[in-house]
Amino acid sequence: MPLIKTTAMFKKAYEGGFAIGAFNVNNMEIVQGITGAAAELNSPVILQCSAGARKYANSRYLVHLVRAALEVSDIPIALHLDHGPDYATCKSCIDDGFTSVMFDGSHYSFKENIEKTKEVVEYAHAHNVVVEAELGQLAGVEDDVNVSAENAHYTKPEEVEEFVSKTGCDSLAIAIGTSHGAFKFKPEQCTRNADGVLVPPELRFDVLAEIEKKIPGFPIVLHGASSVIPKYVKIINDNGGKLDDAIGIPEDQLRKAAKSAVCKINIDSDLRLAMTAGIREHFIAHPEHFDPRQYIAPGRDYIKELVIHKIKTVLGSEGSAPGIMALVNEY
Ligand code: G3H
Ligand code: 13P
Ligand code: ZN
Repeated sequence: MPLIKTTAMFKKAYEGGFAIGAFNVNNMEIVQGITGAAAELNSPVILQCSAGARKYANSRYLVHLVRAALEVSDIPIALHLDHGPDYATCKSCIDDGFTSVMFDGSHYSFKENIEKTKEVVEYAHAHNVVVEAELGQLAGVEDDVNVSAENAHYTKPEEVEEFVSKTGCDSLAIAIGTSHGAFKFKPEQCTRNADGVLVPPELRFDVLAEIEKKIPGFPIVLHGASSVIPKYVKIINDNGGKLDDAIGIPEDQLRKAAKSAVCKINIDSDLRLAMTAGIREHFIAHPEHFDPRQYIAPGRDYIKELVIHKIKTVLGSEGSAPGIMALVNEY
């Protein structure tokens, strides 16, 4: 089965009230953990590589790891560039065999974002590749994504129609209160529920609904959508780690988003936490081990467990692989 574009995935997800998980990959065990889970649940999946991942692993390694996953798991997989910073990076991924690229022009002016996105769309569409664009800015810090909370702002619904029609993009990432990383909210921004768990402010579903009204049927993408699952944070902290006040997006809010026009949900921090939890736990339990296979495998197992949980509880994409494959030839 070849790598596929996200078009058929998003059509089915929109109609079916679910979302496709877009998981960041940086090495073999992460690819295996994610695709092992998706194959077990007959779910489609998007594997995405950031510019930082391409620098770390070498883009060719990532492309071949994803192709290997396709060979061993009979599910629809799209290979996507996450947060493409410029035309050259998007072009390089398209030339490398990616089936989808994101051009992240969210920090440019509205006009410049349109011009630069359009340039990427023209090259991508000429090569049968789809493009995700972004309007509005999320807060958060990763290798190549660094926006302070003061500079983050919600997407303006009144801009989306013009942006989508002028750029020709295929999906749109929006800002409605999610942010990148494992520390999305400060404890003082949250309230405590009856169980004493910190609950952050609700996502701006009103903004999402306005956007949906302006561009009905158009696939929306949520970045910064890790829920920072307490189980993995606790394992890390119980095994020598120090992650204080890590707070993510509550899963019930993500499930609500997945039932709407949100067709793609981006998850990276949760994978990092699961992998780290498995490795830390193993090292503390087995200080005598030094074979990387012994300590990386538990990280891979936790990633698989996490992705199974996401597909079942948050995304709702279980069992949708055959319907998507049946549609693929039309797109
Ligand atoms: O949104 C960004 C992703 O989490 C990728 O992070 O640039 O550190 O690979 P990275
Ligand atoms: P998280 O940091 O919430 O996992 O977001 C990942 C992301 O948006 C990748 O583009
Ligand atoms: Zn992102």
